[in-house]
Amino acid sequence: MHCTRKIEEDIYWIGSEDRKLQLFENIIPIQKGVSYNSYLILDEKTVLLDTVDYSVGKQFLENLEYTLDGRTLDYLIVNHMEPDHSSLILEIILRYPDVRIIGNMQTARMLKQFFTFDVDSRIQVVKENEELNIGKHTLKFLFAQMVHWPEVMFTYDITSKILFSADAFGTFGALNGNLFNDDTDFEKAYLSQARRYYCNIVGKYGVQVQNVFKKLDGVEINKICPLHGPIWRNNLSYILDKYDKWSRYEPEEKSVVIIYSSVYGNTENVANVLANKLSEKGVKNIKAFDVSHVDVSVLVAESFKVSNIAIISTTYNMGVFPKIEEYIDHIKRMNLQNRTISIIENSTWAPGITKIILEKLSEMQNMTILEEKLAIKSSIKSEQESELNQVAESIINSLK
Ligand code: FEO
Repeated sequence: MHCTRKIEEDIYWIGSEDRKLQLFENIIPIQKGVSYNSYLILDEKTVLLDTVDYSVGKQFLENLEYTLDGRTLDYLIVNHMEPDHSSLILEIILRYPDVRIIGNMQTARMLKQFFTFDVDSRIQVVKENEELNIGKHTLKFLFAQMVHWPEVMFTYDITSKILFSADAFGTFGALNGNLFNDDTDFEKAYLSQARRYYCNIVGKYGVQVQNVFKKLDGVEINKICPLHGPIWRNNLSYILDKYDKWSRYEPEEKSVVIIYSSVYGNTENVANVLANKLSEKGVKNIKAFDVSHVDVSVLVAESFKVSNIAIISTTYNMGVFPKIEEYIDHIKRMNLQNRTISIIENSTWAPGITKIILEKLSEMQNMTILEEKLAIKSSIKSEQESELNQVAESIINSLK
C-alpha cells in the first residue's frame, strides 16, 4: 500500500525508510535505520524532487504512482546524484518516458557516468539561480557544491518558501511516521544521529557549507525538506545554528571527550582516573570511549561536539594503537579544527608514541596541544599522580 504524506496543499513526501541496512555507504553503522526522502509537487506541471535508494524502490514507485493519480510526470529534479537518491532514475524514465530531467552540468556528467540512457536528449541543464515556473510554483536552483558532492544543488520553491536541501540538514534514523521535526523531541531522538551524519558525511566540507549559508542569507524559508530525516517546519534556527557551528568547526560545548585504547586495562585505568579528576573539578558531560568498542563515526561526532580531546594510547607493535591511529586519521580527514588536545601514552618495552601522535596532529589546523603530557610504563603508580593532576589542571585551565 502507498505510504505518503501531504506537506503543503500540493506538495507530498513520497519517500521511504530502510531499517535493514547495517552500514550506510557500506561503512557507517546505522542501528536506527535511515529515511530516503523524495518529494512530489502537483502543479500545472508535475515535479519529482530526487528518487530514493534502490532497496526501497518498490514502496517509492507505488507512492509516486498513487500520488500522481493518473497524471504523467513532467520533471525530475536531481538535486544530488549519490545513488541513495538517484538509483531509480532509469526506472522513472522507463515508467514516464516524456519526463525531463533538471540538473546542472555536473549532474549531466554524473548521469552519463552512472547510466547508459541518452542523457543529452533528456536533460535540461540549469544555471545557478535559474528559475523554473511550473504553474503556481516557481522553483529556483541554488548550487551547493560539495555539500556533499560537486553537483549538489538546493531547489528553493519561491512560492511556498520551501527549501529542498539535498543531504544538508539531514540525519540518520528512520522517521517512524513522525515526518516533521516537532513530531518528536529532536534533541533526544535525533541530535546525536544528525551530528554523526553531518560530521561523517559533510564534515570535511565546512568551507563549502559556509558558502551555501552566504547564498541563503536573506532567503525567507518556511520549511526545510532534506533527503534524510525529518522535515523542518518550525524552529529552523535550531538546525541552522548547529550546521553553522559544525561547519565553522566550533565546539558546541566546553567539555572533554577521552579517546583511549587499552589492551589489559591499565590504560583504561588512567582514562577513568583522569575523568574522575576532571569531574571532581567541575567538568560536566565528560565522555570516555574505548576505541576498540565504539565505531569511529561516533568518535568523530563526539570530537566535533566538544572543545577538548584527551588521547590516551597504548603502544602497539612499536607504534600508536591502530584504532587510535584510525581515529586521528578520521578527524584529520574530516578537517576537524580548533580543538585543545591532551596526550597520554602507555608503553611497556617499546619507545613512547607521543612523538608520532604529535606528528599526526601537526598536519591538522588550529589544534592546540597542551604542554602537560604524561608517559606511563605499563601502569600508573601513585608517584605519577601529581603529573596526572597537572594534565587535569591544564585541561581545566583551557576550558575557562
Ligand atoms: Fe544521501 Fe550524499 O547522499
